[in-house]
Parts: sequence; C-alpha cells; structure tokens
Amino acid sequence: MVLQRTFVMIKPDGVRRGLIGEIIGRLERKGLKIVAMKMTRIDKQIAHKLYEEHVGKPFFNDLVEYIGSGPVVCMVIEGDEVVKVMRTMIGATDPKEALPGTVRGDLAMSKGENVIHASDAEEKAKKEMSLFFSPSEIIG
Ligand code: PPS
Repeated sequence: MVLQRTFVMIKPDGVRRGLIGEIIGRLERKGLKIVAMKMTRIDKQIAHKLYEEHVGKPFFNDLVEYIGSGPVVCMVIEGDEVVKVMRTMIGATDPKEALPGTVRGDLAMSKGENVIHASDAEEKAKKEMSLFFSPSEIIG
C-alpha cells in the first residue's frame, strides 16, 4: 500500500454545469477519501503558479482566462497510489480522446474546457495543494 495525497480541482465549466456532485460521487464511490475541500476563485497570480510549466505556450492566455472565469472546487484526495488512480479516473487531457468511464470521457468535449484537473506527479501534488490549503485545513 502506498498511501498518497493528490490535488484535484473541478474547473469553472464543471461548476457552471452543475457537475460537482457527479464528480465527488465518483471519487467517493471509488473508495477515495476527501481530506480537504473548498470553493474559490483563481486570480492571475495563482493561475501563473498553478500552471507555471505552461507559461509562454500558445494556449496559456486562454487557460488563465478560462480558469479564472468562475468558481472552482479544490480538493485534497487521499488513497492508495491516488496520484495515478486520479489521473486514470479523469482521463486524457483532450476529452475527445478520453475513454468512456473517465470523467472527461463521459462529461466533456473540449480540451480548453475539460471539467477537472488532477496533479500528474506526487511532487506536483504537494506544490499544488500548498497553493490552496494550509496544513491545518487538511483533515487527516
Ligand atoms: S502540454 O503542452 O502538452 O504539456 O499541455 P497539455 O497537457 O495538453 O495541457 C496542459 C493544461 O492546459 C490545458 N489546456 C488548455 N486550457 C485552455 N485552453 C486551451 N486551448 C488549452 N489547451 C490545453 C489542459 O487542459 C491542461 O490543464 P490541466 O488542468 O493541467 O489538466
């Protein structure tokens, strides 16, 4: 057993479309544990920190505008090998290529509006959760 924590965020289109319950339900039914959760807005400064590896890419400005276009729901999820498990559950970045049964495969159609984010590595998870949660907000 490799107990890990990862950062998961329901993006503005997921919140706008009323998919919070659907997505949280999938995580809970899978057997993962929510150890922190908050609704917030992502300003430009936080967007640059969250997506710093993509600064300068052609889609970066669209990404910052989109991610700040409405509230998001941020979570810390705990479970056995949860970084890999969450990436499998959310599906490919481009929802048109994401497999049925995944969040993006079932619920999204556009790479620019793909409903959910999950950290792609354990180190990234630590960095991303620290942008949104203080240690005392994570309930172990
Ligand atoms: S890359 O260059 O291959 O590393 O980028 P990619 O993995 O495809 O995407 C990285 C994140 O940027 C988001 N993205 C976009 N957002 C808005 N508009 C456009 N056009 C766009 N293209 C890519 C993509 O959803 C990834 O977000 P996260 O939150 O990391 O899944």
